[in-house]
Formats: sequence, structure tokens, C-alpha cells
Amino acid sequence: MNKLLIAILLAIIVLSCSDGDQLKNKSGQTVRQWWKEGTLYQIYPQSFKDTDGDGFGDFRGIIEQVNYLEQLGITAIWMNPFFESPMVDNGYDVADYRAINPRYGTMKDFEEMVRVLNDGGIKFILDVVVNHSSNQHEWFIEASRSRDHKYHKYYHWWYAENGEPPHRHSLFDPEGGWDYVEAVNAWYLHTFAEEQPDLNWENPELRREVYEIMKFWAEKGVGGFRMDAFQFASKDTTYPEFPEGHEKNFIQWYGMRPQLHDYLREMYTEVIEPYHVFAVAEGAGSTFQDAHDLVDADRKELQTAYHFEYVDMSRTPEGYELSDFKQVFTRWDSAFAEDGWLAIFLSNHDNARLVDRFGNTSPEFRTLSVQMLNTFLLSMRGTPYTYYGDELGMTNIDMPSIDEYVDVDALGKYKAALASGQNLDKFMEELNYSSRENARTPMQWDDSENAGFTSGTPWKRVNPNYKEINVAAQEADPQSVLNHFRRMTRLRNENLVLVYGTYDMILDDHEEIYAYTRILEDDRLLVLLNFSDDKAMADLPNEVEIGATLINNYESDPFKGNNKVVLEPYQAVIAELR
Ligand code: NOJ
Repeated sequence: MNKLLIAILLAIIVLSCSDGDQLKNKSGQTVRQWWKEGTLYQIYPQSFKDTDGDGFGDFRGIIEQVNYLEQLGITAIWMNPFFESPMVDNGYDVADYRAINPRYGTMKDFEEMVRVLNDGGIKFILDVVVNHSSNQHEWFIEASRSRDHKYHKYYHWWYAENGEPPHRHSLFDPEGGWDYVEAVNAWYLHTFAEEQPDLNWENPELRREVYEIMKFWAEKGVGGFRMDAFQFASKDTTYPEFPEGHEKNFIQWYGMRPQLHDYLREMYTEVIEPYHVFAVAEGAGSTFQDAHDLVDADRKELQTAYHFEYVDMSRTPEGYELSDFKQVFTRWDSAFAEDGWLAIFLSNHDNARLVDRFGNTSPEFRTLSVQMLNTFLLSMRGTPYTYYGDELGMTNIDMPSIDEYVDVDALGKYKAALASGQNLDKFMEELNYSSRENARTPMQWDDSENAGFTSGTPWKRVNPNYKEINVAAQEADPQSVLNHFRRMTRLRNENLVLVYGTYDMILDDHEEIYAYTRILEDDRLLVLLNFSDDKAMADLPNEVEIGATLINNYESDPFKGNNKVVLEPYQAVIAELR
């Protein structure tokens, strides 16, 4: 028999053996989906790889690095917005949803990039920013000229003849969520910056425009959509005044109106189903019920969603407690054990770097702690999202002075701190730790000038630690964060148990160790993670019988006989269970 035939027969045997009940839903249909089995990698396009020397990353840079991406073992890329934009919020203010900002390349480059990625088995996920547009979008320009223009109704307005608008909180603008336009004698609503007017989803014509935009990109080979700020899309158009202090629970008051579900079902019928694409919502409301209603397959709305409780755990330099971490992940996992599917992430472009928030940046423990965190991310149930640079353990950058900040969110917060007379030294210390700028520095490719990111002047200062933390150095080191990441994606890609297996926490109250099993029929894995910078010991339950060790970021064997386990600082181990 030739080798190909043997491989096919083996694959059939493996598939038929593993296709047990856990891979079927209650009605006997398979639960297997590419977007559940995928490992997503997020690229912030202006910071990934510049090929034309203008200091901004571009599509050709991604084409150039396609081998790197393939070798990462990732199966989909979500890219932050690259559309025509005045860049007030780095592209989350779109001026033309069908045009590409020339700094990233041309439509031809885009099409080539998607083709090259798809050829490498990598799908492309587009960021759809339709809770708001830019105030430079033709729709808003016309809408602000005349109340009679059809585009006027694409936005939310409060007419001056009704008096001053009721207070509305804005996430980026300390002066609030309404701004006045003289030509129409009305205020428009903006949940984010004043340059990001909210689109009126209650208007069916606007919704139709959005579906046409999504179809346009689906026809270009896009495999899925990330719906930006989508939980805020539907609004109560009486714009009620909410009680004082409601801003602290912003999502509860402004997010997840019941009508949103109708719009999502409409979007599903119009775009998601006919184009066989998938969609993930940013935000999942504030309750499990909200989240379930978004992703329950029977409801035909979205495929996955990500909530903020994971990342909300560690927003200040004080950090987080492992007990909270375990509890949050376990709670969300069990809520979706039967129906629905979640995205799992610990970092993205809106947060400080993974290692600064959840790991340990000291030279002794940086590598180990990031390896441990990546082991966690890639061994949990749910689709894992890795933010570019976290496969290397890229860190926060030190930016103590406000003069260097360009992010609209940071500048808004600074303005508010000034106005309220806060202690600015303390404010800057916290901003330096938590600001989004930390996660947007150029990718560190090698130790040449500008970390090999650009031959020009980078749009954002490269983190000075690039000489030490970079792709080239880590490729050469089998024990690097990068090579550990690759081992983890390979393990996940090759073992359905890491995707569909049950998740059960053990050693629940252990203060240093997070341990759990993943089980799918006869495939049984044990994951042991030491979240501390000390040795940690535990007795495993008697019935546990350890088999082969599949992942270990130390040479030392943690299994000491008699079910005793001793983990070195930040040791991460995945072992088979007999
Ligand atoms: C969420 C995005 O992740 C963030 O970067 C952006 O500023 C806001 N939505 C507004 O679009």
C-alpha cells in the first residue's frame, strides 16, 4: 500500500474512534466547527511589519511573514481595522467601509494577503466597526447638513426644540455623549469619542447598508467578522436619563437591549448563514443569560462572544488573586458547558501586555511565566485568542510622560483627571501600567535597528527591550516562549480533547496551583500550572494515574510518586492520565 493510502486509512480510523458522543449535540449532530478548533492570532496592522519604510505596518508585511504565521500553528487572524479613517481612534473611526487606508496597501494587496493566508490554512477575520462611524464618513457629513437627508436618520439626534439632552455617559469623552451640530440644531450621540458618532441600528436602512458592507468583504474571502462594541448597537431612542453613578455599570445600562437579538438574527440570515462565515461579538452583556442568548446555536445569532470579566481582573498595578482567576474562568466555562461557545483571551489591543498583567516581568521569571500563561490559554475550552507579541512575551513600554501618548482613550482620561483635580503623579503611574499604548508597540522581529519592524521611523517607539526579546533570538532557542507557544498550538491542533474535552478543576482551593483535567472519551489530560514565583506542592487525588508528559517548561519532572506533585516557579505541565 502506498504511503498516502496508509495515511488516509489511519486518519479514518482515528476520526471514527474519536467521534464519540461528546462530539454530538442533543439532536445527534456534530458539534465540530473550524472556529471552535481554531487558534486565533490578533494582528494590530500598523505595528506588525512595515515593508515600504513609512513607519506603519502593512499588508505586504503580513504576506512577507506568512511562513512565520504558519509556523505559529495559528489557524485564523483577526486584524484590527484597516479602512479609510482619520485615525482618531487608530482606525476604529471608519470614514469608508469599503476603502483601505493607503498606509496598509491597496485592495489588490489585501486580496493577495487573504489568498496567501488561506493557502496557508489561515482564515481572515475582519473587524466590523458599526456601532459608530467616523464623523468624516459621507453619511455623517450629509447627516449633519440637513435634517431631511436620508443619512440624517443613520445617526441618533436630540433636537434643540426639546431642550438640552439628558445626560449620557461617553467612554472616551469626559464631557459626555452628546455633541451639538449647528446646521441641524441638534445634538448627536457618541458612546466613544466625539469623532465617533453612533449609528442608528433602529433604522432598517442603516442595517441593510451594514449587511451589504459585510457581504462585500465576505465576497473577498473573509472567513469571519469581529463585531466591535456591538453590545451597544441598539439604543432606547427616548434616551432616558439613568441614575447617578450608573457609569460604573456602563454595560448594564447601555448594553444588550432585547432588540439587539432581532438585529443579529437578521444579520445571521442575511450574511452569516449564506456566506458560511462566523462572527464573534465584542462584549457579551453582563449576565450569563445575555451571553447565552448571543451564542446559543439554536437562536442563530452569533457563533461566539467574549466578555470582559477575564481582562477586568487585572487592570491596576495591584494585579489579581489566583482564586478570582480560577473562579472567573471556571464559572464562565460551566455556564457554557452544554450550549454555546466562548472566546478565551487574556490580552488584546485595549489592555496592557499579558506578562505585565498576569505574569512576572522580572528577568528570572518572564519567560517561564509567559509560557505558563500561554499553556493556560491554549489548554482551556473555548477558542483561544493570542495577541501579536504575546507568543514572545513582549512587555509594556515605559511611558511616564503624557506628552508621548496619542491614544484617544488615554488622552480623555488625562483630561478628566486634570479637570477633577486628581493626583497626577499617581494617575500617570497607573496610566503607564494600564494604558492601551503598551500593547501597540511595533513587533520585535530581530535585534537590528527598530527591531526589524521598519527601515523608516516607526509610528510608535519600539520597546527598548527588543534586543533581548525578539523573534530571531527566540527561534534559535528551543526553550524560548516562541517555541513553547508553537509546541502548545501543535498539541491543541492535534488533540481534539483540548478543544471539546470536558473541563474540570481540581485542587480548587490551592493558592498557587491552577489544575484541571480535559477529557474526551478515552483521551484524558491533566493540566498543572504554578501561578507563583515559589515552588508549589500538592497531593493529587488518589484515583489519578499519570501517563506521558506532553508539555513541560522545565526539565524537572514534577511527579514525585505517591501522587505527589512539586512544581517549580511558573512551571506548566500537561500530562496524559491513564
Ligand atoms: C472597542 C475596540 O476594541 C477599541 O479599540 C475601540 O477604541 C472601541 N471599541 C471603539 O471602537
